[in-house]
Amino acid sequence: MDTQLEQLRADALAAIFAAADEAAVEQARIKYLGQSGEFTALSKGMKDVSKDDKPRIGKLLNDVRNAVTAALDERKAALLADADAAAFAGVDVTLPGTASRLGSLHPITQLQDRAIQIFRRMGFALADGPDIETEWHCFDALNTPADHPARNEQDTFYLPDGRLLRTHTSTIQIREMTTQPPPVRIIAPGAAYRRDEVDATHLAQFNQMEGLYVAEGVSLADLKGTLEFFFRELFGNDAQFRFRPHFFPFTEPSFEVDVKAAAFGGGERWLEIAGCGMVDPAVFEAINGQRGDHAYDPEKYTGFAFGFGLDRLAMILSGTPDIRSFTQNDQRFLAQF
Ligand code: PHE
Repeated sequence: MDTQLEQLRADALAAIFAAADEAAVEQARIKYLGQSGEFTALSKGMKDVSKDDKPRIGKLLNDVRNAVTAALDERKAALLADADAAAFAGVDVTLPGTASRLGSLHPITQLQDRAIQIFRRMGFALADGPDIETEWHCFDALNTPADHPARNEQDTFYLPDGRLLRTHTSTIQIREMTTQPPPVRIIAPGAAYRRDEVDATHLAQFNQMEGLYVAEGVSLADLKGTLEFFFRELFGNDAQFRFRPHFFPFTEPSFEVDVKAAAFGGGERWLEIAGCGMVDPAVFEAINGQRGDHAYDPEKYTGFAFGFGLDRLAMILSGTPDIRSFTQNDQRFLAQF
C-alpha cells in the first residue's frame, strides 16, 4: 500500500504541474481526489491493513491527500497569475494616469456664500421664502400701489391664479415680519424674476440678496455702517462708495449705493450696486394689519432694508462683461473661478 500511495502522489503532482489550464487541473482533481478517483479506491484498502500498520498508513493517506490538494490550489493560483500577466502585457502600468478634473462651486454660489459669511459676522441670520408669491407679499405689503409700473403685466410674470414670480427678494422681509416680532436681523438670498429683455446686463431670472434689521433705535448710520463694512470686505478697504438719494415705495428715505470701479468693459466710474433705505412706517402698518397686533409699532421700532443683485456684483468683482456667461455652463468660463 505504501508504494501505491507514493506512486499516486508522484503521478498526481506530475499531472497537476503539467496541467496547462484550469480545465486540466480540474481533470486531475477528479482523476486523483474525485469520488471515484484513485485516492478513494486506495483508501478502501485501509480495512485490510494490519492493526500495527494502520496508524502509519492512515497518516500517509492524509499526507498524500494534503499534498495533492495543496498542489491543485497552487497550480490554479499560478494559472490565474499567468492570465493576469497576459492581460496586462503591452500595458505600461508605470505611465502617469489621466486625472479627471475637479469641479467647483458656481461663481454666483461662491459669492453668495461669501456674502452670507460676512453678514453672519454682523449677527444676521439666514431667511428664505418662496419664488412663487402673492401680490400682497410682493407689492401691497411693500407699500407699492396698484398703479405702480412694477406691477404691470409687462414687467412681472403672473400665474393664472393671480400669484406671480417674485420681482425681488423684499417679499422675504414681509414673510419674516409677519411670522416673528421684532427684533429681526436677517439676510435672504434668492432668485428674482422680471420680464426683462435678455442682454449683456439683464436676465429674466437673476439672484438677489435681501437684508432687514428692525429693532429699537436702528438708524441710517447703522445702515451705512453695515453696507460699507460689507462692501469693503468684498471690494477691499480702499474702494470708494457713495449713497445716492433714490426712491423705493417701501423705504423712506431711500438710497442707491454706488461703487467706483471698472466693469462691463468700461473704465473706472460709479456703478450702482444696491438699493436700501429705512423701512417705511406704512410697511410696519401693513404687517401689523396682517398679524392682527401692533408688534411693529412705528413709534417704537425703526429698521433698515437693503437688496442687491448677486449676478451684477459678481460681474463687477470678476470683470465679467456679459451676465449671460453665468447661465451658459461654458467650462472655459466656469473653470476660471
Ligand atoms: N427690492 C429692491 C429692488 O429689487 C431693492 C431694495 C431692497 C431697496 C430693500 C430698498 C430696500 O430693486
